[in-house]
Amino acid sequence: MIPPSSPQDPSIIAPFSGAQTASNSPAGLIRLNDLSDSRLSDVLDLSDRFKAGVRRPELAGKSVGFLFFRGSLRTRTAFEVAVHQLGGQGVHMSAGSDFWEVEARDGVVMDGTAPEHVRDAAAVMSTYCDALAIRPRPAGNAWAVDRRDEGIHAWARHASVPIINMESALGHPLQALADLMTLRETFGKDLAGKRIAIVWTPSPTPAGPSVVHSMLLAALRSGMQVSLAHPRGYELDEGVMSEARALGAEHPSGGLEHANTARDAAKDAHVVYARSWMSLENYGNSTRAASRVATERRDWLVDESMMQLGKEARLMHPMPIRRNLEVTDSVLDGPRSLVYQQAANRLPTQKGLLSLLLRGQ
Ligand code: CP
Repeated sequence: MIPPSSPQDPSIIAPFSGAQTASNSPAGLIRLNDLSDSRLSDVLDLSDRFKAGVRRPELAGKSVGFLFFRGSLRTRTAFEVAVHQLGGQGVHMSAGSDFWEVEARDGVVMDGTAPEHVRDAAAVMSTYCDALAIRPRPAGNAWAVDRRDEGIHAWARHASVPIINMESALGHPLQALADLMTLRETFGKDLAGKRIAIVWTPSPTPAGPSVVHSMLLAALRSGMQVSLAHPRGYELDEGVMSEARALGAEHPSGGLEHANTARDAAKDAHVVYARSWMSLENYGNSTRAASRVATERRDWLVDESMMQLGKEARLMHPMPIRRNLEVTDSVLDGPRSLVYQQAANRLPTQKGLLSLLLRGQ
């Protein structure tokens, strides 16, 4: 459980020294679990202070490299502004225009499309930057392969600076930080026992399950009661689900249940968290996936009548969002929507994280 912690001045929070995945780089953030409960509370408390207007040049003289192998609106902009406001320098690079694909597998003959190996790129970038943030692009052919997140782990293995995951196939810890901050602002720091319905929504361009994986684990770790609803065939990653079941069993106030429909999940919920994600059953088969969405879309639109099943339920969605296909205009623009607040919280949480990772290094 994430314990509520008392407010403290950002300057007295110690430099980050938490756990890390097997890698050569100092502690970074590949998954939310890389932050212990106390460090997670530190990041969120610090984020509150940044949002309240604290300005500190925590990154003065420091540079952070941002490498995007896929596009981004929120993550990129929030980081660019965050580094600027913290007095540092951000270097933003997009694969395909600023640089090229990189090979992540060790020991291969590099006769494919990637002209450079992560081993070399990470070593060189580590000499310029104090941290590197990566948004990899999963190959999209086989979930059994992409779920290993080999790209981001290769960067962590070969870099000598902290690596931050800006959304891999398996998880999106930065979105989870902003979502936790939003939940704490709405319900208070103790989220134990609050009910969250995580519901699948239709989209012809569904995202991967990364955001939902991270939100599911973050909610259960906070002692929330999660009701998960999706059409058959949209089951989440089995490894994540087994971690989720274990977390759910750990917390007397929380737990995980499955609902057959979004409406069942929304009953008595304090939060409806909507998100499209692709069928892992049809992973790599976009035609089949699109035709399934077309048949399933009607029952899964989040509208006023679904929201009314909850306990004054609030709407969350990580964005981008397809209006009137995933969520109706009236819910999205209504007083119960936390969607813009979630997006706004990407900035203070990314400032909080950078400050903790880089302070004292
Ligand atoms: N939610 C999110 O990560 O948005 P972007 O893809 O625009 O960064």
